[in-house]
Amino acid sequence: MSEHTPTPTITEYWNDAAPTFDAEPDHGLRDADTRAAWARLLGGWIPAGSRSVLDVGCGTGTLSLLLAADGHRVTGVDLAPRMVAEARAKQAATGHTARFLVGDAAAPPVGEDARFDVVLARHLLWTLPQPEAALGRWCGLLRPGGVLILIEGRWAEAAPGSTPYAADAELLPWPGGVGAEQLADTVRPLVASLRIEQLGGDPQLWGRPVTDERYALIAQV
Ligand SMILES: C[S@@+](CC[C@H](N)C(=O)[O-])C[C@H]1O[C@@H](n2cnc3c(N)ncnc32)[C@H](O)[C@@H]1O
Repeated sequence: MSEHTPTPTITEYWNDAAPTFDAEPDHGLRDADTRAAWARLLGGWIPAGSRSVLDVGCGTGTLSLLLAADGHRVTGVDLAPRMVAEARAKQAATGHTARFLVGDAAAPPVGEDARFDVVLARHLLWTLPQPEAALGRWCGLLRPGGVLILIEGRWAEAAPGSTPYAADAELLPWPGGVGAEQLADTVRPLVASLRIEQLGGDPQLWGRPVTDERYALIAQV
């Protein structure tokens, strides 16, 4: 296994998390107001029209299916087969069409020539062994003018010194999340322009008030 490869214990953690993952308000978006808040947010960042979107670390596919419902052509990729199984089951239940693949977000199994209008990653970078390499790969998968959307933060639950969430997670470079300034410094050389939007002040997005850092980085290549 190379240092780029996520460890089996990390995959196992997410497989085990899959059946109950959507119980969190911002994961399952089961509340209509929370769902509408995310739809508005994503709609404001994605250019008009039907766009090809790659949702890396898609989890149970909630955002993928939200975008599919809006007419976008979405591919979701996740490392954990049980997350992908949940996403496919939700797709069957909703009737919205997206493609869900099992694979590593750092090397999405979409084919060498595939290009996308949008690459979206929500709450993924903190759990990647080589986040910088993944960011480079995602920018390479975008068409000229394409949009990279990174929804990230620094989680209160994973503050420095807290127990790693899975065995081997202590080896991750951004284990408690990554601050907006640090992520912007990492992404800036890869893109033509970027901006940060703070998201912590809107409780509707999270289903509750939050006090930790939460933001989106929106970049154009
Ligand atoms: C916190 S969840 C976020 C899920 C989804 N993006 C969302 O916002 O609801 C992190 C997800 O990343 C996936 N993941 C972790 N490491 C990954 C990797 N190297 N490649 C692809 N997916 C990965 C996990 O299986 C999990 O589904």
